[in-house]
Amino acid sequence: MKGYPAWFVRALLGALLLVFVSGCLLAPTTLVMRFEMALAWRLPGAGRVVTAAMHAATGFVLLMMLGALWSVHMRAGWRKRRQRGSGATLGIMLLLLAASAVAIYYAGEDALGSGAALVHLVVGLTLLLPFGWHWVHARRASRKAAVPREPAFAAVNTVSARAEAN
Ligand code: HEM
Ligand code: HEM
Repeated sequence: MKGYPAWFVRALLGALLLVFVSGCLLAPTTLVMRFEMALAWRLPGAGRVVTAAMHAATGFVLLMMLGALWSVHMRAGWRKRRQRGSGATLGIMLLLLAASAVAIYYAGEDALGSGAALVHLVVGLTLLLPFGWHWVHARRASRKAAVPREPAFAAVNTVSARAEAN
């Protein structure tokens, strides 16, 4: 990723993974408490608080990283018209996650709060799809760029080429 230190991509992947796993761990409690589903397991009280705190903190770090991506990575990719679809989808989904997180905090337990939690959960669970798409395309493009091209005028003038021609 041009314009960023090597650790940035690793930190980005780590933050995405942590927010995703902690979000998945919080999901059963959401389904039981907000949607009255009968599930065999959910995080116990203290575990839920610690996981929710870690989830929220990592989510905020991820949003700081989105700011860093906006100022260089997203604008450069957008200008070059590369990976616009998956990149913009990712950016919009992260903003939706941030907006629905605010509603989870302040809209309470009624329809608005539960609706926000559902949007948050569905967007969160599907985030890996555009990310995977974005990542695979980036890797493919960088592999293609790394393959040395066939020389356009293959060794026409070298001694061995002339010997072969004779
Ligand atoms: C308008 C939005 C975006 C555009 C146009 C865009 C464009 C690109 C392009 C062209 C590449 C391949 C070249 C490169 O590595 O710079 C790439 C790679 C990548 N992008 Fe994006 N991107 C966008 C948003 C995002 C967002 C929001 C994230 C993170 C959530 C992200 C994460 C990545 C990662 C992890 C790579 C792979 C880097 C690597 O191979 O080391 N991008 N993107
Ligand atoms: C930018 C990314 C994200 C941010 C900023 C974010 C932020 C938050 C915040 C602040 C909360 C409230 C924590 C609390 O209950 O005290 C929350 C709850 C939650 N998040 Fe996320 N989150 C993000 C991504 C995700 C992802 C990827 C998933 C799913 C895999 C997810 C699933 C959940 C669930 C299930 C809850 C509990 C909702 C409830 O209270 O019923 N989040 N998130």
